[in-house]
Amino acid sequence: MCGIIGYTGPDKVKNILLEGLAQLEYRGYDSAGIAIAREDGSIYVEKQTGQTANLKAACEQSDADGHCGIGHTRWATHGGVTRLNTHPHRAGKVTLIHNGIIENYHELIEEYQLQDQLVSETDSEVAAALLNRFYDGTNPKEAIKKTVALLEGSFAFCILFEGLTDRIYCIRSVSPLVASSTEHGSLVASDITAVIKYSRKYFVVPEHQLMILYPDHIDLLNEEGIKTEPEILEVNWDVESAQKMGFPHYMMKEIHEQPEAIRKTIAPRLKNGVPSFEDEGMDDSVFASFTNINVVACGTAMYAGMVGKAVIEPIVKIPVTVQIASEFRYSTPLINENTLTIVVSQSGETIDTLAALRLARSCGSKTLAIVNVKGSSIARESDYVLYTHAGPEIAVASTKAYSVQLSAFYLLACKIAMVRGIFDHAQAKDFINNLYQCIDAISGILEQKDQIREAAKCLENAEHAYYIGRGLDYAFSMEGALKLKEISYVHAEAYAAGELKHGTIALIEKNIPVVAFATQDSVYNKTISNIREVKARGAYVLLITKENAEIPAGVCDMHLTVPIENDLFTGLPTVVILQLLAYYTSLSKGLDVDKPRNLAKSVTVE
Ligand code: G6P
Repeated sequence: MCGIIGYTGPDKVKNILLEGLAQLEYRGYDSAGIAIAREDGSIYVEKQTGQTANLKAACEQSDADGHCGIGHTRWATHGGVTRLNTHPHRAGKVTLIHNGIIENYHELIEEYQLQDQLVSETDSEVAAALLNRFYDGTNPKEAIKKTVALLEGSFAFCILFEGLTDRIYCIRSVSPLVASSTEHGSLVASDITAVIKYSRKYFVVPEHQLMILYPDHIDLLNEEGIKTEPEILEVNWDVESAQKMGFPHYMMKEIHEQPEAIRKTIAPRLKNGVPSFEDEGMDDSVFASFTNINVVACGTAMYAGMVGKAVIEPIVKIPVTVQIASEFRYSTPLINENTLTIVVSQSGETIDTLAALRLARSCGSKTLAIVNVKGSSIARESDYVLYTHAGPEIAVASTKAYSVQLSAFYLLACKIAMVRGIFDHAQAKDFINNLYQCIDAISGILEQKDQIREAAKCLENAEHAYYIGRGLDYAFSMEGALKLKEISYVHAEAYAAGELKHGTIALIEKNIPVVAFATQDSVYNKTISNIREVKARGAYVLLITKENAEIPAGVCDMHLTVPIENDLFTGLPTVVILQLLAYYTSLSKGLDVDKPRNLAKSVTVE
């Protein structure tokens, strides 16, 4: 949510900022702006609504440049998408960019009589005005200290002070910031994708510490003003991973990366062919005694949790609840020290998920994070971390991150079953072999792209679509419906196939597309009956089954198969079909696949 980039160093800054913003655009693309400290001490600001390409075009009209600057790509929260609301915000000698939400900005406007100084509707500008109020022209640190002491909510700020042409002041609370000191200057950004081109080494800016970027070093000062040393991290992927590599969209590239991402997530955790998490600090005792599992997450990660539940419960026979993090965080959770809370997040920064994690810990629950981004807040605050190795996911619609999250759940299910004596070594090995077969099955699905593209035609002109299935199929269908909504703007709902007749079937009329899943043998006939119910009411049925399924005549209009025999493992290849269906629907409607309207990849506000 909102992307931040800053640089100070020997190189010209304008292009560094514009390129960084283009890399970060998936965090927000309502509008973008930059501020550059000119050598004469003044600050050049350019901002534009729309995607960063508009900003780039505007910047080309001016030869203003410098060696120190900040840039921001916005996902609007307070105030519409207008040039005035676009960051950077300027107040007197202060120019800043902000990611987060200042919750008490109204109170601050009144208390400090700031009304007349504000030109935008944003909460961020209030912080700029306050900083300017407290800045005496000589002591930026003091002004920042006084300002942040008043703020409620979340923030990551990068600030330029007029006259200080070589440095950037930064501070954060909750909202993410990483930084890197290189031989060619110092960088700060919302996440590593904007920095990787310059350095693989970086650090997560500690919360509430003041960070000052100079051309040749970075200072970190704790709340007492004492210098601290950051923990340096290193990314294990390279700059190409964050580029399209010949694919037309990041989403398509990331769909294709799934076999490799799953392999990278599974392989390092296998010892003698069965899962071991000892290298990650989790010995058998971690999995031995909890009595229930509580999964919390948002969006796609939460739907991965639904599959986790459907995989773990029947094997381990302990209750697994899956909760939406934004609901859970304000609930009275029925969890305690006997609960394992599994927090799932690609970014590791989703604010609701982070808050849910903190609440779970306060209830005494042990916490295990399934996270993709190394060193992220959720990873750092959990008792245990199981990193997924998907590499950077840039497309807003999550694909490979979901698959690796599912893989992590399969590994966990197997491990818990082994530790509790449900699986012996041979059974565990067999389970993992089944998981490995999914990788080849996904590659097989990717070869059927043309057929899936053809199948997607039924969704192109639809206003509504329904995804139905039972058991595990229902769990996948939720993610399938979400993908379609996100990138093709077709209203799609997932229903447990047997539940449809209790109301929703009233919406089925001639030619409404129904994507029906029947990959589970135990409920196959039941699902086919439900499909007949919608078919009888004129629905256009796209059916997905296993390869060996016998399809009764007249039950579907289009049929796709997944090359997996074991019911428990049909999900991974099935979901790739769903991702491709959504992709081709979005493409045929001429939509921006990678940057769907109103969405942001990393949601760091409530
Ligand atoms: C946003 C994204 C979704 C994602 C969700 C959770 O809504 O658009 O694709 O599933 O956040 O993100 P996380 O990083 O916590 O997995």
